[in-house]
Amino acid sequence: MIQLENINKVFKLGKTEVSALKNVNIHVEKGEIFGVIGFSGAGKSTLLRMVNLLEKPTTGDIFINGKNLLILSEKELRETRKKIGIIFQQFNLLSSYNVFDNIAEILRINRVPKQEIKRKVKKLLTLVGLEDKAEQYPAQLSGGQKQRVGIARALAMDPEILLCDEATSALDPQTTDSILELLLDINKKLGLTIILITHEMEVIKKTCDRVAVMDKGEVIEQGTVLDIFSNPRHVTTKNFLRNLYEDTITDDVVERLQKRGHSYILRLAFRGESAYEPVLNKIASNYSVVTNIVHGSITYLKGVPLGILLVHLSGDEDKVEQAITYLKDVVYHVEINLELNKKYKEAMVL
Ligand SMILES: Nc1ncnc2c1ncn2[C@@H]1O[C@H](COP(=O)(O)OP(=O)(O)OP(=O)(O)O)[C@@H](O)[C@H]1O
Ligand SMILES: [Mg+2]
Repeated sequence: MIQLENINKVFKLGKTEVSALKNVNIHVEKGEIFGVIGFSGAGKSTLLRMVNLLEKPTTGDIFINGKNLLILSEKELRETRKKIGIIFQQFNLLSSYNVFDNIAEILRINRVPKQEIKRKVKKLLTLVGLEDKAEQYPAQLSGGQKQRVGIARALAMDPEILLCDEATSALDPQTTDSILELLLDINKKLGLTIILITHEMEVIKKTCDRVAVMDKGEVIEQGTVLDIFSNPRHVTTKNFLRNLYEDTITDDVVERLQKRGHSYILRLAFRGESAYEPVLNKIASNYSVVTNIVHGSITYLKGVPLGILLVHLSGDEDKVEQAITYLKDVVYHVEINLELNKKYKEAMVL
């Protein structure tokens, strides 16, 4: 539905040039929630602004429903933009307008009849849970309520796409959750396609189907949230995930692992409710290997559990290899953790 093809964006500031986006390729499917995560300055907002052409790429193409935005007439572009709502970290509400008028304004600009505006705003206020706040002014609302108004306003023209630029960054964790739930709800109820920008993996894991990780203007990896969480490849992605689950072990734990024949430290990712114990019991009994759980954690991706386990495996070389082959078959992702194994081997030599 949304295709960003080979996007490059160079900002010129006097004599210096800032390369804000470098060869970015992203395809977002209809109805999905696509996350973009990156540190400050990674190019996230610039990327988002490409989708409604608030910012033009230096090179590259943007397609929405197969139409190339860069060759649309002004009128066609205006029509396309109506189908794209946007919400911001700072809400961007008009302080002298009450809640009703903040939402109604965009409908008035688009010459929607008065009665229809009344009906529509009422419906939107119900959708975002602010039925009783129509007369209030932004200054009288909490941050979460302001963002709900922002969402209602973004939905006023019945968009097909909702762009969210750090929509929850100014909110406390509880309010963030309620706004994310609202986004999930409208994604489901209205079939809206959502692109959501954030610097928090928490936000990604609670809402997104797929994610792109950005660093210094580049997309360094992208995929399903499950795959990125199960098997992060890039160090930046690993850093983002570090807050959610521990993936390293301390030196003294490594040193305490005993070497019994051939040994490895494996990182296993279990999907859904599949329990660890039966799998580990099975390899212990079928291959006579000794398993030792070094670390275990569970995280929930859109409510679906993902278990991460660091396991120390040892035994006869061929049995250990067979056990790993078996694990690769039954576990969602198996990785021989190179960094940990190096640490472990070094500790064994001492
Ligand atoms: N209008 C502009 N003119 C010049 N440089 C810009 C402009 N907009 C963005 N940049 C530069 O492009 C780079 C990417 O900026 P962008 O705002 O997209 O980052 P971001 O990932 O959204 O960061 P943040 O998380 O802080 O919002 C930055 O180096 C920024 O300084
Ligand atoms: Mg930004």
